[in-house]
Amino acid sequence: MTKKKLRLKSSAKKPLLVIGIIILVLILILFFYFNRIGELKNLGYSESAAKNIIFKFKYSYVIGIGKNKTLNAAFESDNYKEENLDCYAKIDYENQKHLISNINKLLDKGYNVNEVSLIISKGDDESVSDFTKRDKVKYIEEFLSVDYAKLENLDRYVAYKEKENDDAETTVLYVNMDFDKEDYVDPIVIDDFDDYVLVNKHRQLSGDYIPDDLVTIDDEYVKADEEIEIERNVAKAFYDMAKAASKEGMELMVSSGYRSYADQEEITNTYLELYGQNYVDNYVAKPGFSEHQTAMSLDIASKSVDTFVESNEYSWMMDNAYKYGFILRYPKSKEDITGYKCEAWHYRYVGKEIAEYIHNNNITYDEYYVMFLDD
Ligand code: DAL
Ligand code: ZN
Repeated sequence: MTKKKLRLKSSAKKPLLVIGIIILVLILILFFYFNRIGELKNLGYSESAAKNIIFKFKYSYVIGIGKNKTLNAAFESDNYKEENLDCYAKIDYENQKHLISNINKLLDKGYNVNEVSLIISKGDDESVSDFTKRDKVKYIEEFLSVDYAKLENLDRYVAYKEKENDDAETTVLYVNMDFDKEDYVDPIVIDDFDDYVLVNKHRQLSGDYIPDDLVTIDDEYVKADEEIEIERNVAKAFYDMAKAASKEGMELMVSSGYRSYADQEEITNTYLELYGQNYVDNYVAKPGFSEHQTAMSLDIASKSVDTFVESNEYSWMMDNAYKYGFILRYPKSKEDITGYKCEAWHYRYVGKEIAEYIHNNNITYDEYYVMFLDD
């Protein structure tokens, strides 16, 4: 029996070749597609952003930029606009729900990319969204270029500068410290207390605020016959400091620590009767506005000399307190900033690192807080 050879007719070969080529091309396309998706994901782009980057033919552009949070948000967003791509790429910011639509709106208002970037980085989703509804504002770059500037304070910066004519950095610092407001008027009520809390004539603790973890200072360190409480870590730091001081012949004592709202009320009334309103304004905080209510402050005394500023202990504290995490809270040269006359005895515990910075840079805690801790 002869075998019948199975041969395709040449007319049937051609379509098969074409199908084969198409399948090969498709495999190649899929290979490149998944390879590029993988590369973009490795760079930090999400799956949906990566797909859009490829479908919008922006793969090479994005690879050229690298990781960028705003670009990722843009390619995830329905508000993506091709003409704003370079601007998205210069911002590298996320965490705002309306980020891309806000960038589009700010560009439409006529802000340049640097201004848009500053506005976005200095506000949150809500404040930036509100800002997009305003007419174009001048002086954006001047004020918002200061590290600790806040978008919501922009109008106050402009008003303060017109009045005081300070430079942008001073203006931002002073407005953030509420210098454009009267003492005790419209204060910030502190509701998220931590060890770094700033209390001053513009920042108030609620009347019922009582710190956790109060301990009683050992009798041997208390000048009068009374019980003084303070926050546990502050007590520890004080003992370390007092022991180090005693090795150099200094006898550090404590004359005041934690004071409740009611204690401060009593003190205010007593001093008011004894010395009058002017004295109280300069030396005594109103109830709720005293750092003593935080339990992070101590009034220091010398065992042998009643007027602290005349004691060797005072000089020792000026040179050494920062090494143990304490700062002189109301210094002579900073009365305009703290709002109090110099109190040689009032020390605040802020930890060694911050205390050293404040000591070396001759600034107050009010300034430090605005520059580095306020958000
Ligand atoms: N003497 C300070 C300012 C206070 O009363 O808290
Ligand atoms: Zn004090």
